[in-house]
Amino acid sequence: MAIEILENPIEMVKAWLVEAKSSEISDFNAAALSTLSIKGKPQVRMVLIKSFNDDGATFFTNLESQKGKALLYNNFASICFHWKSLKKQIRVEGEVSLISDDLADKYFETRSRPSQIGAWASSQSKKLESQQTLIDKVKSIEEKFKDIAVRRPSFWSGFCLFPNLIEFWNEGNSRLHERVEYIRSGKKWNRSLLYP
Ligand SMILES: Cc1cc2nc3c(=O)[nH]c(=O)nc-3n(C[C@H](O)[C@H](O)[C@H](O)COP(=O)(O)O)c2cc1C
Repeated sequence: MAIEILENPIEMVKAWLVEAKSSEISDFNAAALSTLSIKGKPQVRMVLIKSFNDDGATFFTNLESQKGKALLYNNFASICFHWKSLKKQIRVEGEVSLISDDLADKYFETRSRPSQIGAWASSQSKKLESQQTLIDKVKSIEEKFKDIAVRRPSFWSGFCLFPNLIEFWNEGNSRLHERVEYIRSGKKWNRSLLYP
């Protein structure tokens, strides 16, 4: 089916996410996040995009992880969604900023307790002696927060990627795929078709 073109690509992303939610087996909101290391080398990994709206694409992570450090050093990033069930892809490029503590706290409160404990226990991307070390750490954090709410660690928060480019890709017959690229120009978006 041909891409249904809208003036506003943010609305298109939202519509494709709705479609993906009902057709993907799991993690319809998973996207590959690409960053540049301090040495300028590209690095990629998956994250869950928890919201996508006019402010951008928000995901959560450990700020001291590889990606956290990379983004705090160089805030240019891109994400790529791919849905096998839909044969569709969306690429987004832009600049990230840290979300407010208030927003991060609010999201952290919605996470399950094991996930909250996990955020404290994981020194994400650092070397781990053994899996048992992590299990022991979880136990000691459970003790620390016994009978009380788990507060958000200051090293755990969210980034919001504000898009300046969004490209939609839709699989076509005989490799005649459709590509529609939107580039932000002030308050407007300029749209072009691209050869596949
Ligand atoms: C489907 C999927 C979703 C993921 N979502 C997140 C996420 O939202 N935040 C996160 O920090 N890591 C997430 N991860 C783990 C990352 O891909 C990665 O292993 C971890 O964040 C460490 O990355 P880094 O060392 O580059 O910082 C996810 C992994 C998968 C496979």
